[in-house]
Amino acid sequence: MRRGFFVTFEGLDGSGKTTQLQLLRDTLTALGYPVTTTRQPGGTPLGDQIRSLLVSSTAENTLGPITPLAELSLMFADRAQSIADIIEPALERGHVLLCDRFTDSSEAYQGAGRQLGVQTVLNLHRTLCGNLQPDLTLLLLPPLATALRRARRRNHRHVDLDGPDENRFERESDAFYQRIHAGYLAIAARDPQRVVPIESSASIDDIKTRILDIVITRLAAHVTHP
Ligand code: TYD
Repeated sequence: MRRGFFVTFEGLDGSGKTTQLQLLRDTLTALGYPVTTTRQPGGTPLGDQIRSLLVSSTAENTLGPITPLAELSLMFADRAQSIADIIEPALERGHVLLCDRFTDSSEAYQGAGRQLGVQTVLNLHRTLCGNLQPDLTLLLLPPLATALRRARRRNHRHVDLDGPDENRFERESDAFYQRIHAGYLAIAARDPQRVVPIESSASIDDIKTRILDIVITRLAAHVTHP
């Protein structure tokens, strides 16, 4: 492969995207593809620090409330570092790069959820990320109620088991998540070539098979027409 293939996973908290990313990584690796995985926010030393500021429900106890624009700026600081340190080098080496969330998350969460507006996010993406676009985005869309139930159950589990405190977003209201859901649908409608919505409450295994079919087909086309 001349240039690598950039795949992003998107969806609400609790949509199952992280599980599916790991399953895809394992399958592609077993098939012999060179694969790099990362996530946003996080994945670089700077990104991991930014992540703990952004997703911990207790960071705000010491920092005070993080404004929506500060939140958006931190997401893009993380992303700029991730592109320079992880994404571009992996693509230059010809890897399949699997990224758990990318700019669509900022558009859905900050643009729609926090109501900062789509253009604000897209302008920042052009300026700070060179308008880098994934080759393929898998948008996991289980029914909203299912995703919310899973995310909230996970919160309780983390609290019970003394797991990582990553609850700041997951404490938000249902209205916030409804706006994000609508934001994701708008992205998919605007960019149907790149974004493949997977609207399913099917089993993990069925979704895994569907994702693999899509990725293998796109990869074959990419290798033939890079
Ligand atoms: P993530 O670790 O993917 O959470 P989950 O596994 O629960 O889906 O992302 C952490 C949180 O950060 C998540 O609630 C979404 C949020 N986020 C944004 O609000 N904007 C962004 O640009 C990104 C990348 C994430």
